[in-house]
Amino acid sequence: MDKKFKRTLITSALPYANGPVHIGHLAGVYVPADIYARYLRLKGEEVLFVGGSDEHGVPVTIRAKKEGCTPQDVVDRYHNIIRKSFEDFGISFDVYSRTTSAIHHQFAADFFRKLYDDGKFIEMDSEQFFDEKEGQFLTDRNIRGECPRCHAQDAYGDQCEKCGATLSPEELINPYNADTGNPLVRKTTHHWYLPLNDYQPWLEDWILNQHKEWRPNVFGQCKSWLDGGLKPRAVTRDLNWGIPVPIEGVEGKVLYVWFDAPIGYISNTKELCEAQPERWGSWQKWWQDPESRLIHFIGKDNIVFHCIVFPSMLKAYGDGFILPENVPANEFLNLEGDKISTSKNWAVWLHEYLQDFPGKQDTLRYVLTANAPETKDNDFTWKDFQTRHNSELVAIFGNFVNRAVVLTHKYFGGEVPAPGQLQPIDREVLAQIPQLRSEIEDNLESFKFREALRSAMNLARLGNKYISDTEPWAVAKTDLQRTAAILNTSLQITASLAVAFAPFLPFSVEKLNHILNVEPIAWDDLGKADLLPVGHKLNKAELLFSKIEDAEIDKQMKRLEEIKAARLAAAAAAAPTVEPAKEACTFDEFGKMDIRTATVLAAERVPKTDKLLKLTIDTGLDQRVIVSGIAQYYTPEEMIGKQICILANLQPRVIRGIESKGMILMARQLDGKMRIVTPEERLANGATIG
Ligand code: 2FM
Ligand code: ZN
Repeated sequence: MDKKFKRTLITSALPYANGPVHIGHLAGVYVPADIYARYLRLKGEEVLFVGGSDEHGVPVTIRAKKEGCTPQDVVDRYHNIIRKSFEDFGISFDVYSRTTSAIHHQFAADFFRKLYDDGKFIEMDSEQFFDEKEGQFLTDRNIRGECPRCHAQDAYGDQCEKCGATLSPEELINPYNADTGNPLVRKTTHHWYLPLNDYQPWLEDWILNQHKEWRPNVFGQCKSWLDGGLKPRAVTRDLNWGIPVPIEGVEGKVLYVWFDAPIGYISNTKELCEAQPERWGSWQKWWQDPESRLIHFIGKDNIVFHCIVFPSMLKAYGDGFILPENVPANEFLNLEGDKISTSKNWAVWLHEYLQDFPGKQDTLRYVLTANAPETKDNDFTWKDFQTRHNSELVAIFGNFVNRAVVLTHKYFGGEVPAPGQLQPIDREVLAQIPQLRSEIEDNLESFKFREALRSAMNLARLGNKYISDTEPWAVAKTDLQRTAAILNTSLQITASLAVAFAPFLPFSVEKLNHILNVEPIAWDDLGKADLLPVGHKLNKAELLFSKIEDAEIDKQMKRLEEIKAARLAAAAAAAPTVEPAKEACTFDEFGKMDIRTATVLAAERVPKTDKLLKLTIDTGLDQRVIVSGIAQYYTPEEMIGKQICILANLQPRVIRGIESKGMILMARQLDGKMRIVTPEERLANGATIG
């Protein structure tokens, strides 16, 4: 650790308590944060790892309404499910609290009040959408309406899921309350804003000049926000779920969830410090001492809040709060090629994973780290999960450890044998450990967890190769002394593995420590040649990992296929029955269209396109070429000889360098598929239609 710092405060994004947590959460935030916390603790550093549930915000109220219960019921349920999932996966928080706690409510309200009293806010009236029947203001995701771009009827106030457009509620056509369907009107409301623009020069200096080392995705997002010019941001909302705005006479307004949630990091620290002051000292020691180093682990959608908004809040407060030294934000994890989505149930939920793979927490931790979305979005696939487990954890790490321990029992009664005279091959393998150790350290200290894990696995690879090359089981037939040297070397590597993997695979390392009959080994001992003294008695061998069979993976794949099929069926059922009528056209307008029968003489795909066919047709008038976007629906062979109807007098257009003269009449089915329109019986080419 940098000499300036005495201790490290690690925070991990507080998950919303409106649903369980899934592999995306684990991969993006909690596993890397946990690896980091465990690593620093193993090095003997002073660490505090803060977590907790984010229990306010609109989504909680929506879920409560849907389920016919109170918001408090919702957060109580999910807070417990989430906390248990984290515990089950070994996420080693020192404190895991919640933003509905009394301590947090008081702390966040006091924080707001100090900024208010110090004149740090500006107050403004603005127009927002209001549901008159419900007497309620609505924002973003509770507002739906027609998309101004693609005209989908159910776009959200912040985004259209059909065409992907980013929207603001004002852009929606005929906005309505997503919950009740009631139409919305605009109404003036009063709110408090943090003028982020006042902090812009300070943020620019702090981030753009002093933190060029942040990950490119984090630095880049900050730069683009700053380049765009910061604006005042509302820190209150019209809602009745949250922390009431602590100003006399103000009712029906709460602190914006993104104002109170990051303060939760501090109030959760305070809760811990007040409960165990002798162990943790004061919360101020962690948050206001320049010798404390703050690291925020988050997902990429949280960058602006942790790098711009929260630091500005702390600066506005002005009591010497420390700022994050780094914000290692991850990109997103997809599942089998599709975006993870809670609402579409496209996820692997942690509590469900454990039912199907009991005891295999480390496998998921391993796979999610090996494939972590550190620099770009990544994909989780069940096949990759199985392969990494079977061919890395089982076949390399597990296999090596098992061979070393089983052979020690077989030839030396389970006691670490004396190494005697080491040969060059033994010395060489031992000499490689310090190099791998420093690779792991350098990568962990620069938040490159995938690389760090790869180096740890390389240590296991090294051991596995060594034991295969030296073949102690064969040597034992003639030379037990040499066998002793090989097994001693193998056991020392095994003990080093118990340290190297400890931040990543805590459950397996606990098992390994038991097999080796040792207490957890300190990081600084990694690579020592006498980690296990001669004569030390091992416990009996146990497999660290058992193979994952195809049937287990097939079951998971089947589950996902069923979810996808159900989603497609629901979408088809919800699809509009017919397209709305177009506006009227005059007889003359219609009469201008020269529609005729024609026959396809030749057909071929237009190179380098998926959709286009080049058709040579006989129109009765002439032979001509039409380029048509039907390759998804018809093969060239199917088209040859077909009678079709064409709009013959459409102005020619050049498509992919080919002049296309006319257009084929097609019918679009309700599921979106296109079919050609063809006369009931074969007619002469050039017959007019109208
Ligand atoms: O994106 C989220 O899941 C938020 N609940 C994260 C909050 S992080 C912090 F500020 F509390
Ligand atoms: Zn749209």
